[in-house]
Amino acid sequence: MSPSKRSVPELMASADPLVMVTAYDYPGGRHAEAAGVDLILVGDSLGNVVLGYDSTAPVTLADMIHHGRAVRRGAPNTFLVVDLPFGTYHTGVHDAMRHAVRVIQETGADALKLEGSTPEVLDVVGTLTRNGIPVMGHVGLMPQTATAQGGLTVQGKDDASARRTLDGALALQDAGAFAAVLEAIPARLARLITERLAIPTIGIGAGVHCRGQVLVTHDLLGVYEGEHKKIAKRYAEVGQVSREAIAAYAAEVRGRTFPAKENSFVMKDDVLDKLY
Ligand code: KIV
Ligand code: NA
Repeated sequence: MSPSKRSVPELMASADPLVMVTAYDYPGGRHAEAAGVDLILVGDSLGNVVLGYDSTAPVTLADMIHHGRAVRRGAPNTFLVVDLPFGTYHTGVHDAMRHAVRVIQETGADALKLEGSTPEVLDVVGTLTRNGIPVMGHVGLMPQTATAQGGLTVQGKDDASARRTLDGALALQDAGAFAAVLEAIPARLARLITERLAIPTIGIGAGVHCRGQVLVTHDLLGVYEGEHKKIAKRYAEVGQVSREAIAAYAAEVRGRTFPAKENSFVMKDDVLDKLY
């Protein structure tokens, strides 16, 4: 481990708030590390914002490894969390452990994240953590199973859902999770969960009282310009900048002003003369 990269206990003990962003490739890892975030997440939001799927369900273990390795090359000194994608931790603890080891070994991730708090998922969290793989939990809105949950909608608003979210977060902590993402739940519920847990909560659409925040980088940069997301804020319009730059290039090619002299190579006249 490099000296500047924090360990799990250091992260858990560090002053609030923790800053996490997603990254999916080498430049994304470089930018996040240079910006000085506390954690980088290779999220399976990869499926939506990079691969163009309409959910995270089609994302494979191979996809996560391919992108996770690239991020690690760009961010060698930042704590790196990689999502285990849908279906890779749902067929028993043995399969989950095998997939988890592959992701750790092949990407160089420091920790893995998985969604939910069913007894089966809690078993997996227990097995991974007992075997030395730090696990970040994820409750509230869980995109991998959003269809079953009733769509990509805020969770924890009624008695049953609020109770389920709180109990799920507590159970993840008991199972050994070192942190928990709270996605799309009311701010006051997130505050209550944050007060009840000893482990850090990392919110997205969960208000200001979580011990950390996470955003999908392609949302905050304006690279991914899907429907407006209440839970995200745009800090830049990189999509617009990209379109304008490509259009400027196209205009210069068509106007024969690019490449200019300074983009071109020269050679001696006598060498050229011999070719005629
Ligand atoms: O995949 C992802 O980007 C995530 C974050 C939104 C927490 O899971
Ligand atoms: Na995810």
